[in-house]
Amino acid sequence: MTVHADFTSQAYFRNPAAAIAKLRAAGPVVEIRFPLVGEVWTTTTQDLANQVLRDSRTFTLRKDDGGVVGLQWWMPKIVRTIAGNMLSADEPDHTRLRSIVDEAFRRRAVLEMEPRILAIAGELAGELFAEGSPADLVDRYARRLPLSVICELLGLPLADRPKFTAWASGLTRFTGPLSLLGLVPNILAMKRYMEERLKATRETGGEGLIAELVRVEKEGGRISRDEMVAMLFLLLFAGHETTTHLISGSVRELLRNPQLRDWLEQDWSRADLAVEEFLRFVSPVQFTKPRFVRKDVELGGVRLKKGDKIIPMLVAANLDPQANEHAEKLDLERKPNRHVAFGACGRSSDCRSRWTIELKRAARLPSASRA
Ligand code: HEM
Repeated sequence: MTVHADFTSQAYFRNPAAAIAKLRAAGPVVEIRFPLVGEVWTTTTQDLANQVLRDSRTFTLRKDDGGVVGLQWWMPKIVRTIAGNMLSADEPDHTRLRSIVDEAFRRRAVLEMEPRILAIAGELAGELFAEGSPADLVDRYARRLPLSVICELLGLPLADRPKFTAWASGLTRFTGPLSLLGLVPNILAMKRYMEERLKATRETGGEGLIAELVRVEKEGGRISRDEMVAMLFLLLFAGHETTTHLISGSVRELLRNPQLRDWLEQDWSRADLAVEEFLRFVSPVQFTKPRFVRKDVELGGVRLKKGDKIIPMLVAANLDPQANEHAEKLDLERKPNRHVAFGACGRSSDCRSRWTIELKRAARLPSASRA
């Protein structure tokens, strides 16, 4: 029986815990309806989310015919192009694509970026109230900081950043099929822009990950032109939307809990532990990508059939009382902290170093104490 919950409603965004409690009461593996994906199984415990994410033979991102969950016949070609990224690739394609950007994600490379990230963060914090108080934290800081960082990582010219930022911000208002179609002109404009940047880099050289992609292409083409565009879209979204939610969600929790804000302000070395707890509690990515079930299998006492779809619910895993004591409570000193905010298969382990720097700086924002 399908459990009904509208994961795109304001009611859900305001209080995901209520919907999760309803799902959990129905069992560890339950059927839901998800926008674009349709009927799909989801997990409500951390153990089972881990099991699905780690068993990449039984639960794959693509069907036998290469199809990706959620892609439908009526969707414009551009949507198929951008879906062809490493996040929806099984092996060996995943490793082939991943290895191209690996260097940029290494811890050392990320740490080298730290001074620059701090400078951008400082600049944005300084301008937060430039147009008056109160200021919109999401618009003026939580979105701009990760977008600026990812633009630098990609090597986009400084002058193009406002244009690019406006397109990227416009793409976040996606709640279902109709809104997806409404976004197509924006996506096409961005695609044209990215192709122009790739062309300019091929001709005159450049910096950042775009130059890296072009170098790989020139050295023997382990990557197709469509895959290059898909990679740029992936990095843009994976690298900005996630961090925006983490920053804004964390600041919101600090505003609701001034005693925690004061506690943090007394000693900033507490930020590491606190960020870990914000990741768990806010769960910026609430569901992973849907997977296909490749053979009949029993999971959490439920019989799944070959061809079924399953989408591990990360936020339910993070709030699972079996995984953490008083999981419903925000405890900035929590240790150990068992969460799967980055998924569980290690594919996203490098997200960690990037957002940590951005969020640690955000925690010191003047807005956290004034807004
Ligand atoms: C709060 C910050 C972040 C969170 C919570 C987060 C979360 C995640 C999750 C859950 C996945 C796996 C999704 C799935 O399997 O369906 C993922 C993958 C990925 N993320 Fe992040 N992420 C964050 C920041 C970033 C940043 C800043 C970047 C890049 C600059 C990034 C790049 C990626 C990439 C490239 C993948 C795909 C990895 C692969 O398939 O090998 N993420 N992230």
